[in-house]
Order: sequence, then structure tokens, then C-alpha cells
Amino acid sequence: MKIAVIGLGFVGLTLSSVLASRGITTIGIDSDRKKCSKIAKGIPTFFEPNLEKTLKKALKKKLIITNKLYSINNCDFIFITVGTPEKKNGEIDLSFIKEVVRSVGKLISKNKKKPIILIKSTVIPGTMKNVVLPILERNSKKKAGKDFGLISNPEFLQESRAIHDTIKPHVVVLGGYRTKFMKKTEKFFSRFNPNVPIIITNHQTAEMIKYAHNTFLATKISFINQIANICQGIPDTNIDDVANAMGLDPRIGNLFLNAGPGYGGSCLPKDIKAIINLSSKLGVNPTLLTAVEKINKQQISHIVTLVKQNIGKINGKKLTILGVAFKPGTDDIRGSVSIDLVKRLLKLGAKITIHDPKALENARKIFHDNTKYVKSVPSALKDCQCAIIMTQWKDYERINNKIIKQMAKKFIIDTRRVLYNKNLDAKYYAIGLGQKI
Ligand code: UGA
Repeated sequence: MKIAVIGLGFVGLTLSSVLASRGITTIGIDSDRKKCSKIAKGIPTFFEPNLEKTLKKALKKKLIITNKLYSINNCDFIFITVGTPEKKNGEIDLSFIKEVVRSVGKLISKNKKKPIILIKSTVIPGTMKNVVLPILERNSKKKAGKDFGLISNPEFLQESRAIHDTIKPHVVVLGGYRTKFMKKTEKFFSRFNPNVPIIITNHQTAEMIKYAHNTFLATKISFINQIANICQGIPDTNIDDVANAMGLDPRIGNLFLNAGPGYGGSCLPKDIKAIINLSSKLGVNPTLLTAVEKINKQQISHIVTLVKQNIGKINGKKLTILGVAFKPGTDDIRGSVSIDLVKRLLKLGAKITIHDPKALENARKIFHDNTKYVKSVPSALKDCQCAIIMTQWKDYERINNKIIKQMAKKFIIDTRRVLYNKNLDAKYYAIGLGQKI
């Protein structure tokens, strides 16, 4: 068996590394030459736990990296994992996927093999039927379901646990027509992800399943953030105890109830916007989803207000931001609420120092010389007038009174309650904790 994976971002690189490390001949394809040459040397283009190890193993076994799309020739399965970024109006940008699908169509027109094309990229319901399928048929002059297979295969992996989620996802969703291609795909996944439930449905439903997942996750986060804000107004209340107790109810579940500065990343914010957009177009008022988004935006405003209330005018003040990655375990800052906070504070004239164990270089690409970048937590806190913990990195658990002593003003905002149990010699505010009495 030979598999091609087109688009070597988080999903594509992880998938191709896992496939080839299992001994399946895999061609990882990306149009970016520089990216390809780095990956071919065993260096991932982003930080993801265990990825480098898996990639190196894959390269030794059966992984070929190339920027030549024609390498899809004679592949049994062709996974398309290119990005579908957000446009300014909240819709998704289909240009990458359209371009790839057009080229794939042309290439398979000359192919004797009947490949199965699987779309992993997140696309709005209706895209497969109305956009991808017609482009493929037009360019290949072949018929889907007869000459090639076309299957929606949404991805559910989380950054920072991408390898684990690729090996053991909670579900495999296959959307499309029930043809011999679907049967072959089902067989493939039952071996690749043994004991994982497989849901077979049509394209539109598969596409919707993906959005329903991400918007529900965002809803859970905004829900707990709203409750956390209420808790903050009630002396001695603790959001983590509330969330832990709720999480024990099997109807609720304990995941995604960690209150904080709001959800970020390259997926949740984008997907909720896209579905709000679709919903409005369909004449369904997206009341709940709009509220979810609004609550998310408010979290950053709360933090800015808290800073102002405690240090007065922000202009000229030295503030330290601890964590700019959109969550721990990654160097990814796309859609990071911490980056948004830095932008807001810079606009207000703050002098910002940033610390992050993994994402400093990425932050530098955005803020250049407008902020300071510091590699150690004690140095980051030295002489600052307020420290704001934004990302739940383990490093911040080590902050103690000796480090705090070096701050010009001993004031900490802890959006993740990392330091909750410590007896700190500082004014301490945490999201979701009522003031101690
Ligand atoms: C998300 C989904 O969780 C994946 O299932 C999906 O495959 C992926 O998007 C995608 O569509 O590609 P990811 O973007 O890696 O994965 O990030 P999450 O782990 O979902 O975290 C998103 C944001 O929510 C982060 O900023 C995180 O800090 C925040 N979050 C998460 C909370 O504030 N509280 C929580 O309890 C959980």
C-alpha cells in the first residue's frame, strides 16, 4: 500500500510520520521547498511532543518528503490536509484546497489506479459536494464513486497531543457514498485505529460533525469562563472545585472545563466564526454561538480592567506576560489570546516583557523590538509592575517569594490559577477565585 499526504502542517506531518513509522510507504507532500528540506532532515517545522522522534523513525522506514505533487501517482489513498484559514469576513478561505484538488484531478486523469481521496481539512458543510467533487470530476474527467473515491475524513487531533490523537482518536468519521471505496477505507481505518468507533455518513453530515465538535468545545469553555467570572465576585469561591464536581457527572464530563483567559488557537475561534456565518446565511439566528464568542472576547477585557484598577494608567508601566503559546505543549501562537492581550497593552503604552518556554521566537516574528523576550522566569519578573500568567506552563508553578521580591510592584494576575496554593507575598488575582476572606 502507498499513501500520499498533501500539506505538511500539524495534521499532515503527524499523519505521515505515524503512517510511515508503522511501515506504510508514505509520501509527504508540501509545496514549500524549505519546509520539505527541513522535514526531510528529521526536523519538524513546529514543536509538538514526540513528533521529532516519530518523524525520524518514519524517515528511516517508509517516509519520503517531496514538493512534487505528481508523486501521488499510484497511491492507494491520498489525504488532503491543507489549511482552510479564516477570511476577513469570517468565512473560510478555500483557495488552498481548491488549488490542490484541481491539480490532483489533473494528475489522476492519467492514472490507471483508482485512488481514494480523503479530505481532512475542515470545510463548511456542502463544500465536498458543491466544490471539491465538481472540481475533481471536471479536472480528471472521471467519475467519483466509479473511477476514484472521495471521502470526508474530519480530523479531531489536538495540538500538544497530536501523535496520541492520530494513533487513538475518539472516533473516525467517514463521509461519502457507500461504495467499494468506502468499504476499503473502513477496512484501512479499522486496522490503522483498532477499536476506535467508525461513523459512516454522508459528506455534509461529516463536515457538520467537525464543526459541532469544535463549537461545542468552545461553548464549554465560555460556559465555565462565565461561571468563573461569577465566582470571582463571591468571596472564597473556587472555580476548579466547581468544575471538578461538575466533571464527575457523566452527563457533563470533566474535560474543557478549565477556566482561563478564553480559547485561542488556529481552530476554535475560526470554526465558531465560520459556523455563525453559515447559520446566519441559513436564516438561523446563532444566538448561543454569538454569546460564546462574546464571552471569549470579554475575558481579555477583564484582564486589562484588572491591570488598570491595580496599577492605574498603563502607559509606561512595565508588565510581564508569562506564556504566549495558545496553550502549553506547543510553540504555536496562532489565535493566541495572550498575543491579543500584548497587542492591547502595547496600544495602551505598556512596556512588555514576554516569557514563554517554547514560543518566544514566534512572538518575536510579530512584535519584533516592541517587546522584550526573556528566557528565564525570574529575569522576566525582575522590576516589573505586574505579571500576568496566560499559558498554563509548568514553569510558572515554580514562582516563589524569592522571585517575587525582585518585582517592582508585587502584583500577579493568574488566569490559570497556577499559583493558587502558594502563600505569596504579592497582591494576587486569579480568574475564577473569589477574594480570600
Ligand atoms: C482543537 C480541538 O480540540 C481539536 O479536537 C480539533 O481537532 C482542533 O481544534 C482542530 O480543529 O484542528 P486545538 O486547536 O489543538 O484543538 O486546541 P484545544 O486543545 O482545543 O484548545 C483550544 C483553546 O482552548 C486553547 O487556547 C486552550 O487553552 C483553551 N482551553 C481548552 C481552555 O481555556 N480551557 C479548557 O478547558 C480547554
